[in-house]
Amino acid sequence: MWIYEKKLQYPVRVSKCDPRMARFLIEQYGGADGELSAALRYLNQRYTIPDKVVGLLNDIGTEEFAHLEMIATMVYKLTKDATPEMLEAAGLGPHFVNHDNALFYENAAGNPWTATYIQAKGDPIADLYEDIAAEEKARATYQWLIDMTDDVDIQDSLKFLREREIVHSLRFREAVEILKADREQKKVY
Ligand SMILES: [Fe+2]
Repeated sequence: MWIYEKKLQYPVRVSKCDPRMARFLIEQYGGADGELSAALRYLNQRYTIPDKVVGLLNDIGTEEFAHLEMIATMVYKLTKDATPEMLEAAGLGPHFVNHDNALFYENAAGNPWTATYIQAKGDPIADLYEDIAAEEKARATYQWLIDMTDDVDIQDSLKFLREREIVHSLRFREAVEILKADREQKKVY
């Protein structure tokens, strides 16, 4: 159960219409290491992970949806005034003929999102290591995206998102240590 707050987790401003950057940003919308993958991965893992970690997955999975909303807002603002010609010049011609200006869960290369991007191994430690890797890959992608634009407003939002991935990675690492300590304790008994 969620309570929706009608504001973004962090403000999203863009300086100019820039469909080229929107095309790159969609990687974090419907790409393998994007926010949709992250949210669905963590929320799905809650059902089989030890109770001690459920709250963490709840918190982070929910926050990933807030990040998804920020990315969506960025893409929308970057493309809402773009003409079909501008979209085509940015490599978004195929997207336009299929979706007009609507967002779609796809990666920067135009491949649709797929559940094969995420795993559910059922082994808590294995699942948490996947989560740590996912956070590190998302952090790296945010860095590459920051490098691809000179729009300081977009960079500001992307830096916020990059920092959150670092925090998530640290929290998942802590969770691994907690579960490992538990496992060791059980062996003593
Ligand atoms: Fe994250």
